[in-house]
Amino acid sequence: MVQRFEGKVALVTAAAQGIGAAVARRIAAEGGVVVATDLQQDKLDELVGELGSDKALAVKVDVTSRGEIDAAVAAAVERFGRLDVLVNNAGGCIVSTKPEDTPADEWHRQLDLTLVSAAQCIQSALPHLLESRGNVVTISSVNGLAAFGNIEYSAAKAGQAAMTQNFAARFGPSGVRFNVVAPGTIRTPNWDSQPGTLERLAKLYPLGRAGEPEDIAAAVAFLASDDAAWITGLTLPVEGGVLLGPAALSLAAKD
Ligand SMILES: NC(=O)c1ccc[n+]([C@@H]2O[C@H](COP(=O)([O-])OP(=O)(O)OC[C@H]3O[C@@H](n4cnc5c(N)ncnc54)[C@H](O)[C@@H]3O)[C@@H](O)[C@H]2O)c1
Repeated sequence: MVQRFEGKVALVTAAAQGIGAAVARRIAAEGGVVVATDLQQDKLDELVGELGSDKALAVKVDVTSRGEIDAAVAAAVERFGRLDVLVNNAGGCIVSTKPEDTPADEWHRQLDLTLVSAAQCIQSALPHLLESRGNVVTISSVNGLAAFGNIEYSAAKAGQAAMTQNFAARFGPSGVRFNVVAPGTIRTPNWDSQPGTLERLAKLYPLGRAGEPEDIAAAVAFLASDDAAWITGLTLPVEGGVLLGPAALSLAAKD
């Protein structure tokens, strides 16, 4: 495998499982050092055991706590001397009310986990990214690009793209890049509590399957590497063609 992250240090949020763990593995496989953060210390420890303690560090972080984010960034720089890449992966769909009934505090909880946390991570990492001329990749969703339901989650994900464009414009002249990967349905433990849903959704994908965490990790690795040195402010959908829409799927089936 190409070694695009040799000498680079990446901090990944929500890295204990699913997409975050796949991103951590991919960056490590390409020669990088990974600071893996999450709420689940035991799973982080397993991941660091797998990657090797010289190549990875586990830090327990709740991304809704600025103090914990700052401590993780400080630990990364103290241990490895630099920070080159931030992967904002934390953020899931946590509101279960009907959108017409969602109280303001539920809106705040969703925005805090998905959008405000990403902004706080960027603020915390930025001084080090300015030093390394590094970059940020934020994991959004196709929900931020089209109407797939889950209004509060979708609004938070759409907000990540607007935030990214503005950070990209502001800090481009300083050599720091900001991009977004917007996944479609990905096979992660996120779906474990809804048996059958992933399989049902997979049928809606023109490429005939749900995504794997590795599909997203490959796109993140590209955007975070020097191969994307002239790409900033982009939202890259990685979604098996689902944004082509159901009409495209049924038209194609008639040929
Ligand atoms: N799985 C999908 O189909 C899918 C699709 C589109 C976008 N995404 C996005 O990808 C990202 C990762 O999703 P996934 O499916 O891999 O997740 P997952 O549900 O498999 O894992 C989520 C991880 O986040 C951690 N976490 C939860 N709250 C946290 C907090 N406050 N602070 C730190 N860590 C916290 C959990 O401990 C867990 O390890 C999310 O932003 C999600 O919105 C996922």
